Amino acid sequence: MPTQLKYDTSLRNNTDLAIIVTKDMIAQLSELQPEEQQYVQQQVEQEANLISLNRYSHRIYVVLAPDGKTESLKNEKLRQSGHALLKQLKNDKTAHITVLDKTETEASLYLAEGLYLSNYQFQKHKTKDAKPSPVQTITVADEKVSEQAVQELSTVLEAVYKVRDLVNEPHSHQTATQLSEELDALGQEAGFTTQVLDLIKIQSLKMGGLIAVNQGSEEPATFNILEYKPENAKNSKPYVLVGKGVVYDTGGLSLKPTPNSMDYMKSDMAGAAAVTGILYAIAKNKLPLHVICLIPATDNRPGGNAVAPGDVITMHNGMTVEVLNTDAEGRLILADALSFARKYDPELVIDFATLTGSAMRAVGKEGLVVMGTAADEVMAALKQAGDNVYERTVEFPLWDEYKKQLESDIADLKNLGGADAGHITAGKFLESFTSYPWVHFDIAGTAYLHSEDSYRGKLATGSGVRLVYNYLSALAR
Ligand code: BES
Ligand code: MN
Ligand code: ZN
Repeated sequence: MPTQLKYDTSLRNNTDLAIIVTKDMIAQLSELQPEEQQYVQQQVEQEANLISLNRYSHRIYVVLAPDGKTESLKNEKLRQSGHALLKQLKNDKTAHITVLDKTETEASLYLAEGLYLSNYQFQKHKTKDAKPSPVQTITVADEKVSEQAVQELSTVLEAVYKVRDLVNEPHSHQTATQLSEELDALGQEAGFTTQVLDLIKIQSLKMGGLIAVNQGSEEPATFNILEYKPENAKNSKPYVLVGKGVVYDTGGLSLKPTPNSMDYMKSDMAGAAAVTGILYAIAKNKLPLHVICLIPATDNRPGGNAVAPGDVITMHNGMTVEVLNTDAEGRLILADALSFARKYDPELVIDFATLTGSAMRAVGKEGLVVMGTAADEVMAALKQAGDNVYERTVEFPLWDEYKKQLESDIADLKNLGGADAGHITAGKFLESFTSYPWVHFDIAGTAYLHSEDSYRGKLATGSGVRLVYNYLSALAR
């Protein structure tokens, strides 16, 4: 049973309540008895910001509205409070919680968001000790926010769950073909179409990058075209989202080491999952936007026919690439998708990829690495969207000097740059295959975590979904 997030302002007796208040409200809070008010005051003086009251028939959780320099920081603290509250609810075995906000803001939405995201679990491969999610329903009972806002948020968070499920699924259960089936199922549920191009079609389209990466595999590649085109679309040119769908990255013949490297490379399709999640939320919320996702999918393996370091391949756009490292495979399959995107005459193309260890080393798990050729206003709006949802971004330059590192002795390009700024040279490689406004997100650091980070959780995070939904939904309004 997935987590339910709903809107209902009719408060019933004996419901477990989370009440968001500011310090100065505690003394007048009609929901509390005088001795409860006193107790909460005391706790607050000792710097507590979550106080739990046991009334035996139900519980009351007093959540102190946080301070912060900016709206973005305050909202993030509320999401974090949602995470702390979830831990408390789990302890208390409170399965249904109603959120009430006394601060006359939208605080209940942020608290609910943190609660909901913290409640995620991936247990499908546990045959014993599988525990249900601690919380079953989160009810927002707040006149200040609309039912529609809660519904919209609920769908976006549901999309994040879907993405996390896709990324957490191991390769043993998710080949490229199986991923395509999952995408199709999500499309049927949310209301977008899925067209799956098979290897024959990929060959006839001359997607040399995708073919090369797939060569060492026993499993055929797929190229997936997902589309949502409502009649009331506000944009005449589509937004195109491209996602790296490497369902498993061994590195190919340039084999990866196992610990802390290959052992989590089932997550190398997190870009594919993210763009699917974005489209899922857009379609399910019926945003008036025409959006297309392009997802090249394959595993990267060192089988008998594998592409070898030193090979030259011809890409979808006719350019030749000298493959000097088969572990730099993401850029090869993305380049074909970016070249293919041209035929849609897109308004904007945004790609998501777990592309480089270099991006992860540059900013760790704290931010998404971004670069692009889109207009300054687009880059700025994406940055703002990132701050709004606290998926913060760090922009890197696409200076032409970096491109020298990609000069090949025998082909148009090589797929490997020098030792430094590997995330930028990867970006420069992709840029060569674009011919429209374009933004690239490298989510290698943020897509998959090895330890719990508040409401982002552990393992797959769904990185990018809330950010791009925030950006595109603002354009739809
Ligand atoms: N999938 C990896 C990048 C990656 C690393 C994702 C760590 C998530 C966490 C990508 O295909 C890769 O192997 N990149 C190489 C490129 C290099 C060979 C130029 C890398 O970053 O080491
Ligand atoms: Mn690789
Ligand atoms: Zn990879």
